[in-house]
Amino acid sequence: MPLITFSSPLHKDKTVYAAAGSHTQTILQIAKDNHIPIDFSCSDGECGTCLVKVKRIDPKKPPLANPLTEREIKVLKELGKITQAEIDQMMVDDIAPNEWRLACQMVVRDEDILVEYPSR
Ligand code: FES
Repeated sequence: MPLITFSSPLHKDKTVYAAAGSHTQTILQIAKDNHIPIDFSCSDGECGTCLVKVKRIDPKKPPLANPLTEREIKVLKELGKITQAEIDQMMVDDIAPNEWRLACQMVVRDEDILVEYPSR
């Protein structure tokens, strides 16, 4: 079961360590369950309000396959958080190309991660 750590410079009292209940939950669902104040609006990968940075806790371990969803690609491109070259590489190695994710779209995997919010 992955350990998700939420951290925000704006909410230093809100650093929370939460064990994800299942691998079907998005970061946003886990945040809501743990009263983490990640901003969101559409909850459907359309608006980009839930933009977060996701870092692996142990960078020595190989990253798990967890590519961006089609909606994430569209929104992150519009926000200038991902390049076409990064998207092309992701299609080859099946791994998210950088730390930017949409909390309402990213489903957690069996990997300990740090979620930084708000990220803009
Ligand atoms: Fe709109 Fe996540 S809440 S993209």
